[in-house]
Amino acid sequence: MCLELCNSGCIRDLATTNHQAHRNAALIAIIFNSRTIMASLWPRRLRDKIWPEPLPPLGSFNGKTVLVTGATAGLGLAAAIHFVRFGAVVIITSRSKEQGQTAKNTIETLTGTIGQGKVHIMQLDMNTYRSCVDFVEELKKSKVCRAGLDVAVLNAGLINIDFQKSPQGWEQTIQINTLSTTLLGLLLLDWMTIGERSDALARHLVFVTSRDHLLPDISNWEGYSVDGGILEHFNNESHWPQGSLDPNYCESKLMVTYAIEKMCEKVAKADGGVPVIVNKVCPGLVYSDIGRSISKISWTMKLFVAFYLSTLGKSTDYGSRLYLSAARTLPHEHGKFLVSLYTDDEYEKLAEPNLKSETALRVRELVWGEILDELKAHVPSLREIRYL
Ligand SMILES: NC(=O)c1ccc[n+]([C@@H]2O[C@H](COP(=O)([O-])OP(=O)(O)OC[C@H]3O[C@@H](n4cnc5c(N)ncnc54)[C@H](OP(=O)(O)O)[C@@H]3O)[C@@H](O)[C@H]2O)c1
Repeated sequence: MCLELCNSGCIRDLATTNHQAHRNAALIAIIFNSRTIMASLWPRRLRDKIWPEPLPPLGSFNGKTVLVTGATAGLGLAAAIHFVRFGAVVIITSRSKEQGQTAKNTIETLTGTIGQGKVHIMQLDMNTYRSCVDFVEELKKSKVCRAGLDVAVLNAGLINIDFQKSPQGWEQTIQINTLSTTLLGLLLLDWMTIGERSDALARHLVFVTSRDHLLPDISNWEGYSVDGGILEHFNNESHWPQGSLDPNYCESKLMVTYAIEKMCEKVAKADGGVPVIVNKVCPGLVYSDIGRSISKISWTMKLFVAFYLSTLGKSTDYGSRLYLSAARTLPHEHGKFLVSLYTDDEYEKLAEPNLKSETALRVRELVWGEILDELKAHVPSLREIRYL
């Protein structure tokens, strides 16, 4: 989200300003800086706020089983509501039983499906690999997945302005947005790729990333790789950008994008067919609770986040519509990044430095190697994955 804020030079100033007074001054500069206004994506954001993605035809997900992670709030909750409305049986994940039950009640009430067995709750805390592995094992055994999973939307993610480590020893943003999301993707792909299906019944794996993967400057990343590792660089508290509005967020989304691209390559068959269609999605700027950590900085920030998101951000209903589109892509769209802010041509050009350039391709291999080493060291069953 704010990461979406970080689009301008001013916001970057804000993001790297330590002192509270400087941070507030930077904030005022953002609001009045005409360069920011001219060069920003504001007109497109306003367009997206007014004209949403079209919804699919009624019954599009009839008979389908759909998983949405992080569906207790925000985009995940809104996506679950859409999927149920369009006919799916939905599995939502939650860290706490109470939050999961509240989300289930909300979905059933809003879709008029109380007591119809359309919504199932499962526990998942992406702070640990154990929880991710247990979750996928339980999913495979669950009655609701007897016929397998048709769509998995890996939506859970966070921004954390405080440097906090997961029990695995990784800074939380890297842990959740990059490492655990990749782990879930690998485990789900291994299961979902079993058995052939026609194109009409194709399975989908959707990763919720962000356009913010375009923002990091990767020119030093090869250096980080020889100097202890790229992941370790971002896991080092002395490199933590104090005062940033979204520390490690853009980097975590870029690193998971590298992993997703590698997974897309690995599952594609030699004849071009794909057993599971994999896509990445950016919902755009959405008025959700993702800024909760930023709002804690000060009352000015709380006001600013609320004002910015409510003015320019889409509703979670509109933002999550892109998830439905991603869950209906065709095999030739395997690997595509779905984003409403850019045309395909614009995105191709913007993606050059971080995803297409020679440096980017080398960095991608390095990041992928580091992620796999970390995951294989802690999740031995990954060594048996067929397509790795
Ligand atoms: N909002 C935007 O403008 C925007 C823009 C681009 C991309 N995105 C992406 O969209 C996704 C959803 O964001 P949102 O805006 O809906 O944020 P949100 O309102 O904060 O919801 C995030 C969800 O992720 C869950 N989650 C957080 N940490 C978790 C963990 N350790 N294990 C399992 N689940 C966890 C949360 O569960 P709890 O309630 O238990 O914390 C919550 O259900 C994220 O991946 C985000 O990066 C958002």
